[in-house]
Amino acid sequence: MSVWRGNADGGAFETFTVPSRKSQTVLDVVSWIQQSADPTLTYRYACRVGMCGSCAMMVNGEPRWTCRTHVSRVLDGDRLEIAPLRNLPVIKDLAADMDPFFDKWVKAGGAHRPSRSRDEPIQQVSPDERGRVEANKAIECINCSVCYAACDTVAANADYLGPAALQRAWTLYNDVKVEDRNAVLDAVSGRAAA
Ligand code: FES
Repeated sequence: MSVWRGNADGGAFETFTVPSRKSQTVLDVVSWIQQSADPTLTYRYACRVGMCGSCAMMVNGEPRWTCRTHVSRVLDGDRLEIAPLRNLPVIKDLAADMDPFFDKWVKAGGAHRPSRSRDEPIQQVSPDERGRVEANKAIECINCSVCYAACDTVAANADYLGPAALQRAWTLYNDVKVEDRNAVLDAVSGRAAA
């Protein structure tokens, strides 16, 4: 198994021999290395069940949730190469700096600005309302940045907002409870947004 080691100044892959286990995930491999071979290996995870998105890494060149990726399904021969997420700066080893990803989320108008104050009654929205139905397609995003790491347009244009930020804007644009939906549209209509 090869794991990328380094920081913002550069690095290289380091090879480890990791015992094979039944139903072993890529996150299991990384955790084994950190717990049994090199405690200085840096990486992130939290939920281990595909809910938080913090364990995303490049696995044999593709971005994946490592807690939900079985080694047996991604082995390329006996090759398993694990690296930090593409299109983001590296902090250390497998931990990418998520700031640019969330900065773009904010730039795309990602914060919810409601049309009513907390003193007013909550606005009722029917599940069948058209905007609600449209937004439903996008509200499951957990901001793991896998789409951002996979995006060739982000790779070619660092100003491009990326799929997650644009998707967030899409949910807000379709949300009748947002105060100024045209402002969301304006936020994503710059030259680099699309
Ligand atoms: S650890 Fe939470 S999604 Fe993998």
